[in-house]
This record gives sequence, C-alpha cells and structure tokens, in this order.
Amino acid sequence: MAKQEKVRKRILVIGGDGIGPEVTRWGRRVLEAVAEKYGHEFIFEEGLMGHAAIEATGDPLPEDTLSKARQSDAILFGAIGHPKYDQDPGLKVRPEQGLLRIRKELGLYANLRPIKLFDELLAASSIKPEVLQGADILFFRELTGDVYFGEKKKAEDGSWASDLMIYHTYEVERIARRAFEAARQRRKTLCSVDKANVLESSRLWRATVQRIAADYPDVKCTHMFVDNAAMQLIRDPRQFDVILTANLFGDILTDEASQIAGSMGMLASASIGDGTGFYEPIHGSAPDIAGKGIANPLASILSVALMLQIGFQLQEEAEAVVRAVDQTLKAGYRTVDIADKHTPNHMMVGTDGMGQQIIRFLS
Ligand code: IPM
Ligand code: MG
Repeated sequence: MAKQEKVRKRILVIGGDGIGPEVTRWGRRVLEAVAEKYGHEFIFEEGLMGHAAIEATGDPLPEDTLSKARQSDAILFGAIGHPKYDQDPGLKVRPEQGLLRIRKELGLYANLRPIKLFDELLAASSIKPEVLQGADILFFRELTGDVYFGEKKKAEDGSWASDLMIYHTYEVERIARRAFEAARQRRKTLCSVDKANVLESSRLWRATVQRIAADYPDVKCTHMFVDNAAMQLIRDPRQFDVILTANLFGDILTDEASQIAGSMGMLASASIGDGTGFYEPIHGSAPDIAGKGIANPLASILSVALMLQIGFQLQEEAEAVVRAVDQTLKAGYRTVDIADKHTPNHMMVGTDGMGQQIIRFLS
C-alpha cells in the first residue's frame, strides 16, 4: 500500500443549538480518532452561531465566527433553531439567519445530500423494505439562491407579504455542472426537479440545465415536476441516481427522502462552493430531545466522513468512518430514532454510547 500523505487542517466546530452541540462533540471525537490513527493534524477552533450566538452576542452569526470560518479548511456544524422563535414569527433577529448568512458569505452554493440506506436499517423506515432495498440517491440542492434569498416585502399594515423566487442562469449553471460531474462518477443518470409548468424561474432553470446537459452526452438527463418527484421518491426511490434541484424544493424533498435512509438522524450533508466546505447533519436542533443524551450522533459522524472525502480528499479515512458506522449497526447498537424491535441482537444506546462504539470500531 502506498504511504499516505499526512495532512494538516484547520477545522471550525460550530455546535449551534438544541442537540447540535451533543452530536457535534462526537463528530469532533471521530476526527480526533482519525487524526491519531492516520497521523494527520487537525487543529480545532470553536464558534457560535444561531440562538446560542444571539444569547451571547445579539448576532446569529458573530464576526468572530465568520472570520474563523474564512480561515478554516472545513467547518463542522451541528444544528440551528429554538422553539422561542417558532412561537413568535414577529421576532426580527432569528437563529436561522446565521446559517443562511454563512452559506451566502462563504458562497456555499451546492448542498450535497447523499441518501443511502444501511442494510441493517431496512426495518427502521416506515417504507416497505422491498421498495427501499438498493436505493442510493445523491441530491444536489442549490443553496444560495431562490426564494430563500430573493427580496422580501411586507405591507405596512400587515395585510400581505411576499418572497421573491428568483434564479440567475449562472447560479443554475454552476451547480448543474457539479451535478453532472458527480453523475459521471455514479450511474450516469441525472433528474432535474422543477415546477416549469407554473414558474418562470423554473423554466429558466430547465432551459439552463438542458443547455448544460449537452456538454455531458454520456449522462442521461431527465426533468420532473416537483409534485411528481415527491410522489416518485416514495413510490420507487430506486429510479433515481443524482437529483438536481432548487433551494426550496431541495429542502423539502431531502427531508422526505430521509425516510428512505431510515431516519433523519442518519443523514449527512456537505455544502460546497469554491472555498471552505461546510459539513452538517440535515436534521434540525430537535429541542424536544435536547439535553437528554438520546440524539443520534451518526449524521454528524457521517458528515465528518463527507468532510474527509470531499474536503480533504482522504478517501481511505472517509471509508473507515463509514465502515465503523456500518459495523456498529451490524453489532446491533441503536439510538431510539433507529430502534427496531425485530433486530434480534439490538442494544439501545444514547448519544455517548453510540459515539463510543464508533470510536471503538474506528481504532
Ligand atoms: C436545512 C434547514 C435550513 C434550510 C433551515 C434551518 C434554515 O432546514 O438545512 O435543510 O431551510 O435550509
Ligand atoms: Mg431543511
């Protein structure tokens, strides 16, 4: 085996809100275990974002966090959100603004969300095993455009409000190219999801994707309306390989698709652009279970695998992390969200119990 090159990387860890810090702690521990095993050097810094940052500084994305983010090679993030804001939609300063701003500031325009079921979790999903088995989807969700960042307006008297859904061709082009490149490395099939039968911005999206597709004749490109895609994902998830879609559609479809992977607690994501990458679970802050020590840390740990693979090109290390997850599940360890009474040898563990098993298999 060729001797692996040792790397030295700066990693910013932002735990965020709710279960974020609990699960991210294990993501970091896994990075430390990888560094030790393979002789790499990871230098960690911590930063605040979201409700935690508002409480401490009044700003959901403090300057200190942003400047550390710019100087780091990768960011590991937990989750954002607090019930206080959901109950009061009138609050002007909101935790989510921190996440949206860091995505924009770092130019993280492509959000990769791989949906892959570990065999041991077949029974944990509410979808029939025979429909799920073998499903393997990679979402490319656009992340810095759309109705998320379009102009927001509100009537003085509160009688109406609007969010502008807008796409520029360059925004569609750059993520489409990334998605086609990825499809080339996979099963060479790409489905672009839009609402071109109704929305002007979707017609621009579709025309742009069609134009880019001409540069990738080896990739089969299809187009699907988002309402149909939502249905097809559950009816027959195996028909999809790469799904390319806009910010809002991707937000909704990936939560839905998490059921294909058994639980939201299993899904990792990588947000990338032209600089520092940002790695986070797709699940939220889950305030109802925060602090109870029962949250599943696997999405954070799998986000670390994406960081190693995409951010640092450490393929072997990334595979070792995924293998440790696989072995832990095979050994029967389950957090409550993926518990399945039918697994004969299953052992219930909390956040720390699950994290410790991963470290054990890794080392
Ligand atoms: C996600 C989340 C965020 C989003 C929220 C927290 C702003 O749901 O990353 O999917 O809508 O993008
Ligand atoms: Mg979401």
